[in-house]
Amino acid sequence: MTAIGDRLVLEVGDVAHGGHCVARDKDQVVFVRHALPGEQVEVVVTSKGPKGRYLFADVHKVLTASPDRREAPCAHAGVCGGCDWQHVELAAQRELKARVLREQLHRLGGLTEVGGAPLEESVQVAAVAGDHEGLGWRTRVRYAVDNNGRAGFRRHGSHLVEPVESCPLVSQGVDSAEVTRRTWLGVDDITVVASSTGEVAVLPSPMVRTLPSLPSSVTVPGLRGRKWVRESAGGRDWRVGVEGFWQVHPGAADALIDAVRAVLAPQPGEHLLDLYCGVGLFAGSLAADVGDTGRIDAVETSVQACGDARRNMHDLPHVHIHEASVDLWLTEHIVTGADLVVLDPPRSGAGRKVMESLLDMAPRVIAYVSCDPASLGRDIGYAREAGWTVASVRGFDLFPMTHHLEAVAALVPPARG
Ligand SMILES: C[S@@+](CC[C@H](N)C(=O)[O-])C[C@H]1O[C@@H](n2cnc3c(N)ncnc32)[C@H](O)[C@@H]1O
Repeated sequence: MTAIGDRLVLEVGDVAHGGHCVARDKDQVVFVRHALPGEQVEVVVTSKGPKGRYLFADVHKVLTASPDRREAPCAHAGVCGGCDWQHVELAAQRELKARVLREQLHRLGGLTEVGGAPLEESVQVAAVAGDHEGLGWRTRVRYAVDNNGRAGFRRHGSHLVEPVESCPLVSQGVDSAEVTRRTWLGVDDITVVASSTGEVAVLPSPMVRTLPSLPSSVTVPGLRGRKWVRESAGGRDWRVGVEGFWQVHPGAADALIDAVRAVLAPQPGEHLLDLYCGVGLFAGSLAADVGDTGRIDAVETSVQACGDARRNMHDLPHVHIHEASVDLWLTEHIVTGADLVVLDPPRSGAGRKVMESLLDMAPRVIAYVSCDPASLGRDIGYAREAGWTVASVRGFDLFPMTHHLEAVAALVPPARG
């Protein structure tokens, strides 16, 4: 029986959800990190799935390389858990992400076509503006700190910290905080946020009495400067708590606003639900589209995010913010006549209960923003069971050099499908 640490030579098959490629060792499936489809590789077995039914392995040596393989731009690639696709050409990363998205939509959502075209044609993953060939885009970073006070990232599947002197994925603003060039004794992790308006905040946890000196332009929430940063997107300014949610890629917020607006085509007087609204990105950006004869209800569980959302949209009396869990809010409120829904749930997705409430409500269209193709596929499956159709799915490469992707899907009810 294969043991952890064993070496195997494998022919690598297609990419799977989670960024691994699928291979077989006799009858056993092996999920291989740092491989590419079509390669022959020597791997080291790193762990086993439940009851040893499948294996996880990492590439030790590439025997036959894919034409899509390239030299990783970072010396820590392969060890650092921060990003897993540095060995892949950027265009090929996007094609692999599109393949994963299509596969999940097909397998979990039952889709064979979108908008009348087969998935291969209709579902793509596009670049967004704001990174530099896939680098320099992380505007929000959480560094882990090792026992010697050095900042870095946790190794894949481990608590061990890989100290890094610099990370090519972080934005110039994050790098300007010089966090990786300081020693952080007594600190477990450090959040660094570099906003689109040029503010940089550094938040160590736990906060210690003696912090290393930092550039004077950097704020340290709770010690010097405020606990939030100002972001700019969709033609508005946004207050966002340093630990609150905001898209990490500098081009993400505007790309998603445009995609959601294209799906919803909001009209004056319409009623929009912005579910999982964070600090109100979609509600605030689309408020002028529905106008003051329209109405927006925005729902979010985080007390802090709701506070920021209220401040962000104090000039928009037709936007109503509800501090609640979406599933409870939908069951406790009889929401009638919502024309439009945008939902942007965390990785776990909306789930059956939320989807069924929304499908029963039958808005004109739902824009589903997702950072996980599996939960998106599953939730689309619920919509299709109820006779809904999927008019479009657009993928966005908001996380270059990693296997992660974002997607925006348009769901249309049966009567209008
Ligand atoms: C992916 S973020 C989207 C935020 C926002 N739409 C944006 O683009 O900035 C998901 C948000 O859902 C919130 N959240 C998580 N579970 C929730 C729930 N059950 N009900 C309401 N909000 C929830 C999180 O606090 C987070 O702000």
